[in-house]
Amino acid sequence: MAKILAIETSCDETGVAVLDGIEVLASNLASQIDIHKETGGVVPDVAAREHASVISPLITKTLKEAKIRNPKQDVDAVAVTVGPGLIPALVVGTQAARTLAYAWDKPLIPVNHLAGHVYSALLQGEPVFPALALLVSGGHTMLVKMSGHLQYEILGQTRDDAVGEAFDKVARMLELPYPGGPHLSKLAEEGSASVFEFTRPMKNSDDLDFSFSGLKTEVLYKVRDDHEASRADIAASFQQAAVDSLLHKTKKALQQENYQTLLLAGGVAANKLLREQMKELAAEENVELRIAPLELCGDNAIMIGQVAHYMLEKGQTGDWKEVEAEARLPLDK
Ligand code: KG4
Ligand code: ZN
Repeated sequence: MAKILAIETSCDETGVAVLDGIEVLASNLASQIDIHKETGGVVPDVAAREHASVISPLITKTLKEAKIRNPKQDVDAVAVTVGPGLIPALVVGTQAARTLAYAWDKPLIPVNHLAGHVYSALLQGEPVFPALALLVSGGHTMLVKMSGHLQYEILGQTRDDAVGEAFDKVARMLELPYPGGPHLSKLAEEGSASVFEFTRPMKNSDDLDFSFSGLKTEVLYKVRDDHEASRADIAASFQQAAVDSLLHKTKKALQQENYQTLLLAGGVAANKLLREQMKELAAEENVELRIAPLELCGDNAIMIGQVAHYMLEKGQTGDWKEVEAEARLPLDK
């Protein structure tokens, strides 16, 4: 098996991992949560500076934990997230990866961040196709059909805000700390989802697209105008509306084709309600469900290394001269 050093810096987590095939030899994450708490969100230049200050020692530490003493001899390829993400942040990871690929004279594998998320669910068992993936993160909300390894067809996606972004914005309205999503779902546990009937966005549209901006605005008016409303009830009602909308389109997609597996991945896949209700949906629709484990829902380098393994097998590699960060890199390019 080939040993791959993988690097992820697309947003606010610096991730480094060493894999042997798809098996993880070592992995480390440096989170910037404490830094971004002060601004209530990620400022790209601040994130980039932080990635730059931690990445080199993190690489050294991870190689050491993977028991790689001589990387030029023992590492077969370097992999890095090239997009989508925040450009200043992505550039730090790609530059580090290019330098290492050059110094060690190894192929450089340019990995799509969204593919990484999808693989974090796909590899929770033998990969079976066709698979339908619901990818829910801070920047993306999409339904993706995979007919085989590295084959992605986007069936639908959000027309405005990503679902994670909506969670974060509603959390801010409710004066919850950064990052909002997990805090909001915690508050929701203390409330009742049936108190406020927020609209289920895009419920009656024929496509497999999503929209969360209208729901977000509806919640904003509720918070602004109804001073008697309990914050926990608002959180619970919003969360249920968002989850319903995800489930509705996922169900629709499942009914259009005979999928072998259903995948749930991305930061919002950590949401307890969504995980539970996806299980129910999978049982109803008779499809095997694979959910990314909690520790792989957020950004990490393991998922990047795993995609890189399949890319290396198919010869989808580049070299240090040509690999570049791309903020809006599409999944299906
Ligand atoms: O995948 P991710 O770590 O970064 C991106 O690629 O965007 O996703 C981060 C998003 C944030 O919007 C965060 O609030 C959301 O995932 N999130 C959650 C939960 N945990 C993280 N949203 C709802 N419920 C959660 N438990
Ligand atoms: Zn992500």
